[in-house]
Amino acid sequence: MKEAIEKILASLAELKCQNEKEVEEARVRFLGKKGEVTRLFEEFRTVSPELKREFGQKLNMLKKQVTEKIEDLKGSVASSGASAAGKEDETLPGDAMGLGSRHPVSICRQEIINIFRKFGYDVAEGPEIEDDYHVFEALNFPPNHPARDMQDTFFVSGGHPNPLLLRTHTSSVQVRTMEKSKLPIRVVCPGRVFRNEAISARAHCIFHQVEGLYIDENVTFADLRQAILLFAREMFGEDTQIRMRPSYFPFTEPSAEVDVSCNICKGKGCNVCKGTGWLEILGCGMVDPNVLEASGIDSGKYSGFAFGMGVERIAMLKWQVNDLRHYFENDMRFLREFNTCVEV
Ligand code: PHE
Repeated sequence: MKEAIEKILASLAELKCQNEKEVEEARVRFLGKKGEVTRLFEEFRTVSPELKREFGQKLNMLKKQVTEKIEDLKGSVASSGASAAGKEDETLPGDAMGLGSRHPVSICRQEIINIFRKFGYDVAEGPEIEDDYHVFEALNFPPNHPARDMQDTFFVSGGHPNPLLLRTHTSSVQVRTMEKSKLPIRVVCPGRVFRNEAISARAHCIFHQVEGLYIDENVTFADLRQAILLFAREMFGEDTQIRMRPSYFPFTEPSAEVDVSCNICKGKGCNVCKGTGWLEILGCGMVDPNVLEASGIDSGKYSGFAFGMGVERIAMLKWQVNDLRHYFENDMRFLREFNTCVEV
């Protein structure tokens, strides 16, 4: 019996199969009803009791090895078969890939930029990781000023007196522009901003802004109002009205918040505008003389206005989306709705 086991092991070592049929034949040869291994198990009944233990173990080992080898062979002919099948299909056209489209936030940001480009504004960009000076100090937020609480900040490093942080608005880019550009200045600053806020239908800790800055001689509040009115009409339609409400920002004086007439109910009052007929779109104001001076601009000679808006907010109003989170979840069913939006 010992010899028989060794013989099977030797032929097992040499066993090779090209295809599934040969594997099946090998299985029958060893493990089938009349297979070599099966026959040994039958013979085992006649082995004397003293030897049963020794041969029993050997036979079990043998069966295990044969089974594993057959399984291995099955696997390898299956995978080489699959690649052979793949080769046959080489001339077939590949699977078509769906055509991508721009993200609605990108579409909206580009539309805002394009409107201001038409008005003669340049585009300026700056770092997302900023220092305290460019986000707060140069914008007339003195240390410990309560207005810093308006924008809960993610700090990157604690370094004093000018820690690094994730910018809470792109006004920091306006400061960098004032530091290095020749006057007059007319720029929009698009970019990502970060605030330590709980995520809800109306707020997110990461969102996008487009802020604007215009500095020249004799710039007045009337110029600001006109620029915002023209923007609103380009964005929301020709019959759009705006209204300005007094507000507060450390870097502008006077400051205002701007509402546009609700483009859904045309000012009559609906659930989007909560019955008021108006929707808030941005903050703005005349640049505070302290801010001009901090960047080396003569506030006796020059004046300017600034404004800032959230891209997601404008996109929500434009497309009547009632939950900001849709813009971040990348649900294809939502994104596909914008496939047809024409890029301007
Ligand atoms: N920086 C302000 C904000 O992020 C927006 C703003 C910009 C307001 C310019 C006034 C002038 O909320």
